[in-house]
Amino acid sequence: MNKYDHKISQKNVIKQLDETVINKIAAGEVVERPASAVKELIENSIDAGCSDITIEVADGGKTLIRVIDDGLGMSDIDLPIALRRHATSKLLNDNLLNINSFGFRGEALPSLGAVGRLRIISHNEGNGAHEINVNGGKISDIKPAARTLGTTIELRDLFYATPARLKFLRSTKSELKAITDTVKGLSISTPNIAFTLIDKTGGKSRKILQVQKEKDVSLASIKNRLSRVLGQDFSKNSISIDVTREDVNLTGYVCLPTYARASNAMQYFFVNSRQVRDKQLIGALRAAYSDFMPRDRFPAAAIYINCRPDFVDVNVHPGKSEVRFRDPQGIRSLIVTGIRQVIAIEGHRSSSTLSTAALGAMREQTHQMPSANNEQVTKNSKNMDYNGNKRFFTRDVEPAFQETWKPSARDFQTKDEHANFIEEFESFPLGAPIAQFGANYIISQNEDGIVIIDQHAAHERLVYEKLKEQAKDNKIEVQALLVPEILEFSEPEILVLIEYKDNLSKYGLKLNQFGINSIAVQEIPAILNSENIKKLIFDILDELTDLENSDTLEKKINAVLSRIACHGSIRSGRMLRTEEMNSLLREMENTPNSGQCNHGRPTHISIRMSDIERLFGRR
Ligand SMILES: Nc1ncnc2c1ncn2[C@@H]1O[C@H](COP(=O)(O)OP(=O)(O)OP(=O)(O)O)[C@@H](O)[C@H]1O
Ligand SMILES: [Mg+2]
Repeated sequence: MNKYDHKISQKNVIKQLDETVINKIAAGEVVERPASAVKELIENSIDAGCSDITIEVADGGKTLIRVIDDGLGMSDIDLPIALRRHATSKLLNDNLLNINSFGFRGEALPSLGAVGRLRIISHNEGNGAHEINVNGGKISDIKPAARTLGTTIELRDLFYATPARLKFLRSTKSELKAITDTVKGLSISTPNIAFTLIDKTGGKSRKILQVQKEKDVSLASIKNRLSRVLGQDFSKNSISIDVTREDVNLTGYVCLPTYARASNAMQYFFVNSRQVRDKQLIGALRAAYSDFMPRDRFPAAAIYINCRPDFVDVNVHPGKSEVRFRDPQGIRSLIVTGIRQVIAIEGHRSSSTLSTAALGAMREQTHQMPSANNEQVTKNSKNMDYNGNKRFFTRDVEPAFQETWKPSARDFQTKDEHANFIEEFESFPLGAPIAQFGANYIISQNEDGIVIIDQHAAHERLVYEKLKEQAKDNKIEVQALLVPEILEFSEPEILVLIEYKDNLSKYGLKLNQFGINSIAVQEIPAILNSENIKKLIFDILDELTDLENSDTLEKKINAVLSRIACHGSIRSGRMLRTEEMNSLLREMENTPNSGQCNHGRPTHISIRMSDIERLFGRR
């Protein structure tokens, strides 16, 4: 993968950096939470040239983090030096612009020693094994120990001496989730290393992630690693990419446009093996898909950028998660054009059809939607009230359609019937439907002009509001599946699903773990059919992952309901009969928030007669 691979001195001699270099290093807190300690320790193991790493944690890493590697190890002389601030074996010639390893500051171990009880046992060839301990910054004497070549570093009781910081830790589950994400990211960056993550909480031993060592860091090995960590589905639905321009190489896997996700949780970027969360890179990926994917969907991708170390500055942020490229525009264009090319080869294209001029004349509907008992509107509309007592269109054709309707060639027997219909509904805010076009848009006519309604977006909103109502009273209608659907997920995904299992069952989604890598879906909300369950669960996973750390349960409930609504709504592509269209419009008029779909896009736009006339040069 990276021809500028890790190079550390084989002797592993640790030396103190001098003052001028120290001052250049991006200062800051190295350890914010258990996951950041895990990241530092694993990176040290990778830098030590290991091929197997085991991570054991307890209580979300709060009481125990133990990282065991089979790397180079440290000698008894180096052990105490490793614990000094700014002592490192990695910064060659003190050159911060030529960094070939994850570490370079010599800050991680002393920081860990200051915030928890640290024990290092290390065996370096020819020196035997030794142990050293640090307690609240106090370093013990070295004593002989027993272990094979490599290093074990154990951090217990993180932040025990600083209760203020202890308070900022999140729940055990979310800390464990953050650790799992960290291990996932690091394991994707180094397929040639085996990883095992074990949860040791309460003296038990639960394997969370285990990946075998791949033979190298080639694209084929990356693919195997990705499918193990991100799931088979990702590798089945992605395309490999491998482009080089002016010494910068971009490889990895990017998803097909149809494999859009609900959040950017499944986007991984690595710069010379280092995982980064860089706004520019995220933006370039989005731009690459802008023609193929709606704005509220996110591509999944694992992108590896390899370049000469002096092309990129990693010393920008204490967490080293941001980078600065010498030629940011060049990197952006490599990503955008590289991805577009591979997508084009796969034959997926989409195009936009609306002319800018016509768009300019259109506007989002701004007038107030009436409530069910809005007298003003009721009076204005000639023959109708909003209470469902419709003369032509009874409630049983409301748009929660259970079956597929066939388009009817003629919805009206006579011209008069049609004229009466238009006259009757034209005075309603959303007017009388006159046609469906593009298999998704209803065109309707009201007294101001025409309204174009996105049937999927609109119906999604109605279903969402209805589900929210039902959820409030714990009354979501469910259907049991005769044969439970067995779906495969990766281990970390299963972890999240099981965590939310009870909540999901309140929304009508009953799941149970089924073997190590699968779940069985036993009940689904009645509004859905079973075809799209897998995609729905993936979307829910993305939502939950996205909201993991910050948001309230209510927000999570709504996010899940919104996903269910999306999958339970009439799709674009469904032909609708006039009465179905009419009933959809009337229901929209009675539903709060029906002006936007669940993703904030408008459900309908209006073009005033005067605007149409202007477009035709009549005004
Ligand atoms: N698992 C390990 N195996 C072998 N040597 C290690 C291991 N962990 C740490 N070391 C040695 O201890 C030194 C200090 O580690 P530390 O993580 O504090 O600093 P660093 O990795 O050099 O820089 P950074 O602060 O950027 O991580 C390293 O330079 C390395 O020589
Ligand atoms: Mg380090």
